[in-house]
Amino acid sequence: MTEYYNALVVEKKPPREFAYRVKSLPVTHLPSSEVLVKVHYSSLNYKDILSCQGNPAVTRRFPHTPGLDASGVVEQSNSALFKRGDRVAVFCTPMGMHYQGGLAEYICVPAEWLIRLPENMCLEEVMVYGTAGYTAALAVEAIEKHGIDKSVSKVLVTGASGGLGSIAVLLLKHLGYDVEVSVTRENGKVFLENLGVTAVVDLNASDVKTTQNLLPSRWQAVIDVAGGDVLACILKQVSENGIVVSTGLVAGTHFETNVLPFILRGISLIGINAEGTSVESRKSLLIKLASIWRSSALCDVYKKVKLAGVSCAIENFKEQNIYGRVVVDMEAK
Ligand SMILES: NC(=O)c1ccc[n+]([C@@H]2O[C@H](COP(=O)([O-])OP(=O)(O)OC[C@H]3O[C@@H](n4cnc5c(N)ncnc54)[C@H](OP(=O)(O)O)[C@@H]3O)[C@@H](O)[C@H]2O)c1
Repeated sequence: MTEYYNALVVEKKPPREFAYRVKSLPVTHLPSSEVLVKVHYSSLNYKDILSCQGNPAVTRRFPHTPGLDASGVVEQSNSALFKRGDRVAVFCTPMGMHYQGGLAEYICVPAEWLIRLPENMCLEEVMVYGTAGYTAALAVEAIEKHGIDKSVSKVLVTGASGGLGSIAVLLLKHLGYDVEVSVTRENGKVFLENLGVTAVVDLNASDVKTTQNLLPSRWQAVIDVAGGDVLACILKQVSENGIVVSTGLVAGTHFETNVLPFILRGISLIGINAEGTSVESRKSLLIKLASIWRSSALCDVYKKVKLAGVSCAIENFKEQNIYGRVVVDMEAK
């Protein structure tokens, strides 16, 4: 290992301005922990952007290196669980929030955060999923467990051209579901039509705050990335015994609802907390993603950037010019 490594660093300029750029840091800057990993790939998630903006719900101490996700090869290990040369990934842990993150050429983390990759999954592929994709996979798994008749039912995905939503669409299509999407960005339609879905723009959102407690049934299952009023209007349109999986809050945290969708249609509303899942469930979902859930369209849901280009990709993310996932290739010069 060299004495210096490159990493994205967010710095705070008092009182509350935040700037970020790729910097060279001494290796002594890395947290002292059990396993040192040479990072090959990272990715961008919604929370990474919040961290770059100094959102205190995500990161409070600066300078800071964001990056919820990383995949790479173990360089040194003080843990019996891992040895030099192991191919590993980190996602859905505190890394990148209150702990130095994966947008760096090296990370040093507790062994319990690392997942050994299945033989047939490469370091790039696992980062196409990362935290957003793993969360999407948990949501799809919840729909599979609930059990809906694919031949007659439709599934709705909101926020579908974002990271989580696009992986949800990819997996649902691969598993044979009839998928509809709501989009807030015109260009998102083209991206999603390429993934084989029908764009639905009108969610009947204007009816949300009316006295109507129910609206005509439209979907048997929903993966909702939006939250807020979007979730409120969806709940009124889920068909009998359907399921809504709440995963995100991009449209807001609060929503108003009524009991009729639950007691007259028997619908279920469940939430996903990806960070709260065990190492075992992460491992078993990765095995599924590397085998029976592997979609041939995976290459259509992401673009790759170099570490040197990550600041520009973050700006594009902020300006909502990104569709699907962004994978950061640490080795590309
Ligand atoms: N539950 C968990 O464990 C977990 C884990 C990871 C992430 N999350 C959450 O999931 C959400 C999405 O993360 P992500 O990485 O996929 O983010 P992202 O890539 O930014 O995607 C969010 C998408 O939501 C849509 N959108 C944006 N503003 C909207 C609005 N006001 N109303 C409706 N839709 C809107 C946009 O898609 P369209 O242009 O297609 O509409 C956007 O691409 C975030 O809230 C994140 O915190 C939760």
